[in-house]
Amino acid sequence: TTDQTLAGQRVLITAGGTREAIDPVRFIGNHSSGKMGWALARAAYWAGAEVTVISSVPAPMDIPAKVVAVTTTAELQAAVQRLFPQSDLLFMAAAPADFRPAHPATNKIKKQPGQAEMQLTLVKNPDILASLKPQRRQQIVVGFAAETQQLLTNAQAKLQAKDLDLIVANPVGGTDSGFDVDQNQGTLLFADGSQQTLPLTSKEVMAQAIVAAVTTKILDGRR
Ligand code: PMT
Repeated sequence: TTDQTLAGQRVLITAGGTREAIDPVRFIGNHSSGKMGWALARAAYWAGAEVTVISSVPAPMDIPAKVVAVTTTAELQAAVQRLFPQSDLLFMAAAPADFRPAHPATNKIKKQPGQAEMQLTLVKNPDILASLKPQRRQQIVVGFAAETQQLLTNAQAKLQAKDLDLIVANPVGGTDSGFDVDQNQGTLLFADGSQQTLPLTSKEVMAQAIVAAVTTKILDGRR
């Protein structure tokens, strides 16, 4: 079933966590499964959108989305920068690593006899959403805020710092929502100050609610 509320819209979605190499066999990563991003891709597709997903996880083959595979935050940023100008909406559900090893080793790091500690120097990765500001036109940009504390305060700060139209404040501390589970919950914080609470439900239903909210609260006002 499709309601065609996003017909003609080019929707760009990022899904999954990034991996930053420590050496050829190890990485720094996080628990993002890409489920939230791919649920958004389905919701956008069933609302009639042309869907492109930049994904660090294998694409489920159930919708005809254009897929760009990435691993690192730098690759994710390059793909977003390339595809953003040809997009009308961006949903940034991916979980990019904020830091990466400063000097990834060419060969597998060996533990030394008697070694009890090892130190790794990390350098900051770019903030992908913030880096889009110079090339912003009329695109609607939706971010997520994955928080274990001060959910709304932290999400509100990210909404403003990254110049977003909407941020999904996503509690990730528990076991029932957030990373790598099938359910999720959150609060939508819009740039105009309004809020909408999304109760615990499947990521599929939550994605449909996010798409519906973007359509009625932002997109309809622009057409
Ligand atoms: O993939 P799942 O297992 O289904 O889990 C879903 C999820 C919990 C990963 C998802 O719902 C979610 O919250 N995604 C955002 C994760 C995150 O990176 O949150 P953040 O608060 O650190 O970042 C805020 C926003 O800035 C996010 O939209 C993020 O994509 C973006 N960001 C973050 C870091 C960075 N260097 N550049 C960015 O643009």
